[in-house]
Amino acid sequence: MLLKKFVIGLLSVLSLMPVVSMAESQTTLDGVFNQLQVDRGEKLVAKYCAQCHDQSYFQDVFLQSWQFQTVQALYDEIQATMPRDQPGSLKDRQYAEVLAFIFSINDLPVGEEKLDYKNGGLEQITIRLP
Ligand code: HEC
Repeated sequence: MLLKKFVIGLLSVLSLMPVVSMAESQTTLDGVFNQLQVDRGEKLVAKYCAQCHDQSYFQDVFLQSWQFQTVQALYDEIQATMPRDQPGSLKDRQYAEVLAFIFSINDLPVGEEKLDYKNGGLEQITIRLP
């Protein structure tokens, strides 16, 4: 019985661990993308998205609806569905650049480091708006 209590105790400690590491993660308010990505993203959106979406589509209500989700979730969604006529046709790096541009037109701060789309980095960043 004591062992059972110990195991249950151990499991509940383990189940708290992801919460702890989330608390240490970043948000889009922390300058998580750089200007180079924004500039590239702007060109990509003009080339691959603008025929169906004007810029305002990516502002305000759109990004608000993604608040508190991870950047990874939004990245995956866009990569899986867009451009509508050719989903997944951009490079991984380019989807990150598109995101950097979308963030910048929502008044999110530009930083020094690039938005790191590799190794689960986007999983650590929560979407927050000013
Ligand atoms: C050929 C037209 C077309 C192109 C090109 C296109 N889209 Fe879309 N997009 C749509 C349509 C139509 C919808 C809404 C229907 C839907 O939700 O499936 C949409 C919806 C979206 C959404 C909302 C998805 C959601 O679940 O909130 C996002 C974000 C998006 N597009 C981003 C992009 C980006 C970024 C590009 C360029 C890389 C792009 N789209 C290119 C037609 C297009």
